[in-house]
Amino acid sequence: MSSALDDLLDFTRPAFRRDPVPTYNCLRERAPIATVERGALQFTVLTRHADIVTVLRDPRMSVDRSFQPKPTGDDGVDPATLHPLARALRALSRVMLFRDPPDHTRLRGLVNKAFTPRMVESLRPRIQALVDELLAKPLADGGCDIVRDLAEPLPILVIAELLGLPATDRGDLKRWSDNLAAMLDGSIAMQHLASAIPSAVALIEYLRVHLEAKRKAPSDDLLSAMLAAQEQDEHLTDDEILGTAVVVMGAGHETTTNLIGNGVLALLRNPGELEQLREQPGLIGTGVDEILRFDSPVQATSRVPVETVELFGARFEKGREIGLLLGAANHDPAVFADPGRLDLGRRDNRHVSFGFGIHFCIGAGLARLEGEIALGTLVRRASKLALAASDDTLEWRPGWLLRGLTSLPVTV
Ligand code: HEM
Repeated sequence: MSSALDDLLDFTRPAFRRDPVPTYNCLRERAPIATVERGALQFTVLTRHADIVTVLRDPRMSVDRSFQPKPTGDDGVDPATLHPLARALRALSRVMLFRDPPDHTRLRGLVNKAFTPRMVESLRPRIQALVDELLAKPLADGGCDIVRDLAEPLPILVIAELLGLPATDRGDLKRWSDNLAAMLDGSIAMQHLASAIPSAVALIEYLRVHLEAKRKAPSDDLLSAMLAAQEQDEHLTDDEILGTAVVVMGAGHETTTNLIGNGVLALLRNPGELEQLREQPGLIGTGVDEILRFDSPVQATSRVPVETVELFGARFEKGREIGLLLGAANHDPAVFADPGRLDLGRRDNRHVSFGFGIHFCIGAGLARLEGEIALGTLVRRASKLALAASDDTLEWRPGWLLRGLTSLPVTV
């Protein structure tokens, strides 16, 4: 690989962190199937929309890095006899994001039964009330940090509501799931394991207590709905329910924070579109999908072939990781007209920000609803919405897989 290409593939560069799109465009044009070698590590990076979709729909492409059979269902071990760490690891091994069929199909079915469009829609008034509550002080003060005051607190409050957990526990829930998010995106660095493991244990023990309480007194929430699904299917275990609750927390909060933060920034940088949205509030429906495409909260995912595969004229070796740059696919001119332009009314928006295929985001409906309500309400009520810092001082969170700002000071 040329050193110019090697530089392009260094996603820690400050220029890439500020704006990854020029790098994506360059890669897509010059090396759409780029092979990377970093010491003993070899992987392939894809940037074309069509190639990424082809890989995501191919059943030979696995999300399971170990290829080891793992137990699901009931393994006959009573959780009460296990050390809390072993209990936590058992529940985490039941996370659907890292399982292939047939386990994945079972685990996903569990959530599908419970996480219905009706349940998501029933959260609308509650999400609106939470957004109104969170915006009350900023509107009275005339300014705020959108990330700290709206984008960060909202998703964790909504997930607590969805699972039927007390909102007063949100401080703990946020801390535990922040630490866990690194574990769930599969790229945990050793130094973060030290805080992620106790968080995993604390979160799972906390959820286990609430699960027992819901078993005795069910209510209208996702944990109770999963317990009801368990009554229909004796093979579903408590660990699978807990693993699912954990993945919902881990996958659903920072991603949605970034949708709101990146969305407000995209609107501020495109005042014409912001004005359009003020004049036509109904644009928020297509607008949220355009924001997801334009500055994707999840920039990449990956797959590993379970056998050597030939696809679109290239050879993918068994076991060698394939990086799929979703953010690059979302700016592919073969699919999107004028991809660098934010067009809130864009039709036929085939972005892959929620993935594609069997692992397509289960929370997409909920994330869209939160985005619509948060951004729609802000634009409607904040008549003086403007950036209160210089654009070039904005900072992005560490890591590049999940893309979001650390803070976004605005006047409202
Ligand atoms: C803007 C916000 C969100 C974005 C951009 C996003 C993105 C994604 C993506 C790209 C995937 C597929 C990963 C892959 O195929 O490797 C995924 C899967 C998933 N997401 Fe989301 N997500 C968001 C919000 C949520 C929310 C709110 C929830 C739940 C409350 C959620 C729960 C899940 C779950 C459970 C999966 C795994 C599905 C499976 O493996 O079958 N996500 N998400």
